[in-house]
Amino acid sequence: MKGIILAGGSGTRLYPLTIGQSKQLLAIHDKPMIYYPLSVLMLAGIKDILIISTPQDLPNFKRLLSDGSQLGMNFSYEEQNKPNGIAEAFIIGEKFIGNDSVCLILGDNMFYGSGFTKILKKSVYDVEKNKKAKVFGYYVNNPSRYGVVENDKNGNVISLEEKPKNPKSNYAVVGLYFYPNHVIKTAKNIKPSKRGELEITSINNSFLKKKSLIVELFDKNFTWLDSGTHESMLEASNYIHTIEKRTGLKIACIEEIAYKLGYINKKKLHQIIDYIGDNQYGDYLKKIKDGI
Ligand code: DAU
Repeated sequence: MKGIILAGGSGTRLYPLTIGQSKQLLAIHDKPMIYYPLSVLMLAGIKDILIISTPQDLPNFKRLLSDGSQLGMNFSYEEQNKPNGIAEAFIIGEKFIGNDSVCLILGDNMFYGSGFTKILKKSVYDVEKNKKAKVFGYYVNNPSRYGVVENDKNGNVISLEEKPKNPKSNYAVVGLYFYPNHVIKTAKNIKPSKRGELEITSINNSFLKKKSLIVELFDKNFTWLDSGTHESMLEASNYIHTIEKRTGLKIACIEEIAYKLGYINKKKLHQIIDYIGDNQYGDYLKKIKDGI
């Protein structure tokens, strides 16, 4: 399975923060926002990752993440000229995806909870085996801001709507999507919505029509955060800070994950530590290297 991180968009809701730089490079506590979705793809076992962003922001992502070899991974980059919609990722990424299945994650989505790696691994397995799409629902108090999924008593999906004025449930569809290869064809066949975007919800509805969509609901003790506003960014930073302080462990530390997955050896981790230098993040990586 291949992975795509969509990290474009205009970021106007965060102005003036995002005039000079991409939203997905802004800090969430101690690391750039994109580390969080990147760590999710790593935990799913995905090594080939395409990062899509705007022509002006892409060089900064390359500067941060380069070709991925420092983490024992492969990163590719593609431009999205205009925010034409989330589903455009599969058209831009057609060559990169090739004949594979694909997992798309939005560059501003963060996940945290026990059992998450198991859920991710199972999703990869299910999609590759059954050729169905898989998405996730999460209970929120403001569903109108999101894609919304309505289920019947037996867990079957009845409807999916993008930002409905009168949501039929409190379950938002999170920005993490697993698809079989023919999602590329589906993306080419959908029409732009009233707001002129190729909607991810149109893709999901197309899979739903063919009875090829699985929706798994996250447990209420699981955490899903996005960061579309100044307030939600602050809340996400505070949340990560609180947990990291309490446990002494970092969330979404991509260097630690690469080391623990065996993608890099001690020597390579040492090189990263030298590069990051003498600071709180570097000290943490030293502890990981020394097995403390
Ligand atoms: O966060 C989950 C929600 O993400 C889903 O529940 C919705 O169904 C889905 O449409 C999306 O809603 P948002 O309102 O959050 O979408 P937004 O336009 O803010 O885009 C999400 C991220 O994707 C954002 O970081 C910018 C990036 N993006 C967006 C578009 C439309 C791109 O890189 N290119 C694009 O063309």
